[in-house]
Amino acid sequence: MSNSSLFRTKKIEQSIRDTEEPEHALKKSLSALDLTVFGVGVIIGTGIFVLTGTVAKNNAGPSVALAFVVAGVVCALAALCYAEFASTVPVAGSAYTFSYASLGELPAWIIGWDLVLEFALGTAVVAVGWSGYIRSLMDNAGWQMPASLGGRDGAEGFGFDILAAVLVLVLTGILVLGMKLSARVTSVVVAIKVTVVLIVIIAGAFFIKGSNYDPFVPKAQPVEAGGGLDSPLIQLMFGWAPANFGVMGIFTAASVVFFAFIGFDIVATAAEETKNPQRDMPRGILGSLFICTALYVAVSIVVTGMQHYSELSIDAPLADAFKSTGHPFFAGVISFGAAVGLTTVCMILLLGQTRVFFAMSRDGLLPRFFSRVHPKFRTPYRPTILLGVIIAIVAGFTSLSELAELVNIGTLFAFVIVALSVIILRRTRPDLPRAFRTPLVPLLPIVSVGASLWLMLNLPAETWVRFGVWMAIGVVVYFLYSRSHSRLGRGEEAPAGTPGPSGSTGPSGGNTP
Ligand code: ALA
Repeated sequence: MSNSSLFRTKKIEQSIRDTEEPEHALKKSLSALDLTVFGVGVIIGTGIFVLTGTVAKNNAGPSVALAFVVAGVVCALAALCYAEFASTVPVAGSAYTFSYASLGELPAWIIGWDLVLEFALGTAVVAVGWSGYIRSLMDNAGWQMPASLGGRDGAEGFGFDILAAVLVLVLTGILVLGMKLSARVTSVVVAIKVTVVLIVIIAGAFFIKGSNYDPFVPKAQPVEAGGGLDSPLIQLMFGWAPANFGVMGIFTAASVVFFAFIGFDIVATAAEETKNPQRDMPRGILGSLFICTALYVAVSIVVTGMQHYSELSIDAPLADAFKSTGHPFFAGVISFGAAVGLTTVCMILLLGQTRVFFAMSRDGLLPRFFSRVHPKFRTPYRPTILLGVIIAIVAGFTSLSELAELVNIGTLFAFVIVALSVIILRRTRPDLPRAFRTPLVPLLPIVSVGASLWLMLNLPAETWVRFGVWMAIGVVVYFLYSRSHSRLGRGEEAPAGTPGPSGSTGPSGGNTP
């Protein structure tokens, strides 16, 4: 096989035709408003409900609010690139499909492999966050879990987060049965979640103590026994003495709270179900991103004002801040709303992960075994069960922030490739109609690449090592298996006869009967 076969591309028209085959077709019923509601539904999750506390305490103090702004700007730049892709290639599959159509098979494989990591570990992160709020609720009722069953972060020695693992297994079962989140359930959950966030902002504002903001940007503190692999790569690269807080602490924090924005890229996967993707997709993505950034900044300002950053809890910081001011009732309401909201985020990420896996298997890059749908439930039950069990174990045993950092590096890497693809596709396929065009190409995509790389460099060196190992495994699998099994490579361009799974990542829940 020649080198150029690594860059063989699946024609965009072909990708669109695939989705028009009746057994693959999803209903086109969504408007920009539906997409925005869906976006807010996926985006608001563990990031704001849990990571805010951890990073304020360890990296940024009250300036975590600025970290949200930094992460939001990086995401907005990436979103403008995603939006052009989503409106040009309106088929399911997200960055994987987009890159198959523009960059070629190997880059698409890398992205797909990377997305499986993003969604699978993202599910684990949200499950661990959910478990923290359930424990906070139990605590309200006077029940305590043994520390060893409360997860690795809180335990000395052995720690297994049993609640997180059970949640993942239950959701896996639900997905196998093909039960879906109807648009109505999604809207109710989004309403509960946004209400809870607004309660934090409005009620919390009354308990702010100005002295908690002093200093707003805490002075940089050298890390004891500094220089280890847990320091941000950028600090090690330039030989700076590794430090927490200070201005660099804001960037370290931004690279972690970036997790709070993950999900807008999933909105792009709903293009296939959107009435007018060319117009509504960019509105939906940018609209939900804007709303979330505003809410995040407000929540973090209020929470770090209610409680001194050094005292914030790492399990359920938003609820516990209210407990600290002597208002357990508010804390209970917040924990309840957070738990409800996090359940759906977890389910959507889990679903997204099985769908990317399914798409890769349908194209022959992963064994076809995984693209057979269940005879009765019409769901891709094989990858769902396999990955569900693995994720449950990972969620039980791993620390929340370490997992989140790995998800972030993978997602930022996908952003880099998507931004580059916008530039490449403009040159290779200038003829394609683009209802939404990223402004200032190539400048804006280049700035987006730089911004994403900058956040990646602020992640710990050990996160880079873990990511490198995962991607190296992916490249080996590609050369040993995928390259020779690719349906495109074998000249079977249209994956005919492979029935599509029921259900989709889309907000309509879009089950094809
Ligand atoms: N952005 C989502 C969260 O914070 C994934 O949970």
